[in-house]
Amino acid sequence: MGLNYYQIKKQVLKARKLVIKATAAAGSGHPGGSFSMAEILGCLFYKYLKYDPKNPGWEDRDKLILSKGHASPGLFSNMAVAGYFDPKDIVTLRQFGSKLQGHPDLKCPGVEFCGGSLGIGLSYSIGNALAARLDGKNNRIYTIIGDGESDEGQVWEAAMTAAKYKIDNITAFLDRNFIQQDSYTEKIMPLDEELIGNDLSEMWKDASRWKTGDKWRSFGWNVIEVDGHRTEQISDAIRRANETKGLPSIIIARTVKGKGVEHMEDNPQWHGKAPQQDIVPIIEDELESQFMIAPSIIAGDMSNLGKEVERCNEGRADYIHLDVMDGQFVPNKTFDHAEIQKLRPLSLLPFDTHLMINDPVKHVRNYIDAGSDIITVHAEVCDESSFGEICDQLRSNQVGIGLAINPDTDLPQWSYKFAEMLDQIIVMSVVPGKSGQKFIESTHEKIQRITKDLHDHKFDGYIEVDGGVNLENIGACFADGGRAFVGGSAIIGQSDVRMIIKEFRNQVLDSRRRLLIKKAHDLGGTDLVNKWIDLHVVGKKKDGLVQITKELGFQ
Ligand code: DX5
Ligand code: ZN
Repeated sequence: MGLNYYQIKKQVLKARKLVIKATAAAGSGHPGGSFSMAEILGCLFYKYLKYDPKNPGWEDRDKLILSKGHASPGLFSNMAVAGYFDPKDIVTLRQFGSKLQGHPDLKCPGVEFCGGSLGIGLSYSIGNALAARLDGKNNRIYTIIGDGESDEGQVWEAAMTAAKYKIDNITAFLDRNFIQQDSYTEKIMPLDEELIGNDLSEMWKDASRWKTGDKWRSFGWNVIEVDGHRTEQISDAIRRANETKGLPSIIIARTVKGKGVEHMEDNPQWHGKAPQQDIVPIIEDELESQFMIAPSIIAGDMSNLGKEVERCNEGRADYIHLDVMDGQFVPNKTFDHAEIQKLRPLSLLPFDTHLMINDPVKHVRNYIDAGSDIITVHAEVCDESSFGEICDQLRSNQVGIGLAINPDTDLPQWSYKFAEMLDQIIVMSVVPGKSGQKFIESTHEKIQRITKDLHDHKFDGYIEVDGGVNLENIGACFADGGRAFVGGSAIIGQSDVRMIIKEFRNQVLDSRRRLLIKKAHDLGGTDLVNKWIDLHVVGKKKDGLVQITKELGFQ
C-alpha cells in the first residue's frame, strides 16, 4: 500500500481503538499482545504486505501468519482498517457464529492460519515458503511469534529447519514484550536471563542482558533487533530482512505489552482481559493523545550538524526538526536540501523539514529527494493552487504534508480545503528566523482555537508547536491541543539531550494524566476517577494520579 510515516501512525491508532472496542464489546480477549505488535502490523499492512482485501485468495499475495493467535483482535482490527470487512463488525468479536473468533480462523476471509495452539506458526510458514519456492513464486511469508510462545520446543525445531533449507522468503518477527499469560517471561522461562523482582524497565535499559538475538543467530538466522514501537526502525528492518538471501531472517522487536494505554503497559493482567465499557472513552482519549518531541538541530553546532543528528538519535527523539532558512522569507540562512541529503544516512528518525523559504513550490522536489519524511511550507508564501501542487508532489512520493503559520497569520480560507489530507500544522510560537526566542503567550489561545476549528474540518494530523517551547510551557501546549513539540535551545542547546527529552515527555504525560482524570470526572464523578486510578497498579503511576486528583479538587 505504501503509506507514509504519518499515515501509518494514523492507521495504527485506528486499529488500536478497534481493539479496545472489540474486546470491551466481547467482555474478553487479548488487548496486551495486540498492542505490543501494533506497530509491526502497521508497517506490514500499510507498507510491505502485498494483498487485495477484495480478493483475499489472490494467488500472488504475501501471507501473514499470526502464530501468537490469541492476539487476534490486533489482526482483525487491521484487517478492518485495511478494508477486508466493515469496521463496525469488530464488535462481533468472540460471538457465536461470528467470523471474528477469539483466535484467528480460516472462516474469516483473509486469515491465513488458524492460530491459537501455540508454537506451530513458524513450521506452517516454512511449509508455505517451500511451496512458494517449488511454484517459483516470489511472494513473502511474514510470521509473528510471541516470546511466551517461544517456550514451545517446536519453535526451535522450526528455527533449525528454516536454516537447513536456507529459507529466505520468510520474515519472522518476535514480539518481545517480556510478558506471557501468567507473569514475566523471564520468570517463567527466561529467553534472556532470569528476572529478579518485577522491574522490567531495568531489563529494557541494559542491552548487555539481551541474549535472545544470540540464540537465533546460533540457529543460523539473520537477526535484526529493533524498538518495536518505532515504525521507522521496523520498516527499515523489514526492508533489510527482505533483501537478505540464503538464510532466514527474524526481527526481534522489543515491545511493551499493552503499549499505548498506561494502565495496561507492562502489566501481566492485561494479557487476556477486556476493558470495561465505562472506561473505554477515557482509553480512547488516551490513545488519541500521542505526542512527539522534535529537537531542532539549528540550536546546536551549525558547523557539525552530523553530530547534532547523532545527539537526537542517542536522545531518543521522535523526529529531527530541520529548519531551512533562505535569507529571504526570513533574514537568516541556515542550510538547504544538499545538507539534508548528507545528514540522511546518519539517522532513521523521521526528518521533519520546515521550509522557511520563498516560493516553496519551486523547491519542494529537492527536499523530497533529499529524504524528508514530512515537508512543511509556510501559508504566507502559498496560495490554493501552489499548495495543491505541493500536496500532489508530497503525496505521490509518500512524504507527509505540513502547513505552517506565523504568529500573526491565521489559517487562510483555502487551507481548509486541504484539512483532511494534512499530516501536520505548524503553529509558530515565535517570529520565525532564529532559535532561542521567547514563547509568545497568545499562542496558547491560538492553538486551542485552531484545534477546535480543524476538528470540525476533519483534520486528523498533528499540531506542532514551534518556537520557545520549554519545560514550563510544554504541558500547557499539550492541553491546548499541540501534539508535536519542537525544541531548539531547550533541547539541543542542553548538554544531556536524552535526559531533557525524558523531562519533556514527563511534563506532557503529567498534563495528559490531568486531562484524563478530568474526563473521568466529567463522565462518572469521583467513582469513575477512583476506578480509573485503581487500574494503574504497575510502578508509581498510581501515586502520581492520586496527587493530581487532589490538586484538581476531586478528592
Ligand atoms: C524558528 C524555528 C524553530 C526554532 C526552535 O524560526 O522554526 O524551529 O529553531 O528553536 P527554539 O526552541 O530555541 O525556539
Ligand atoms: Zn522550525
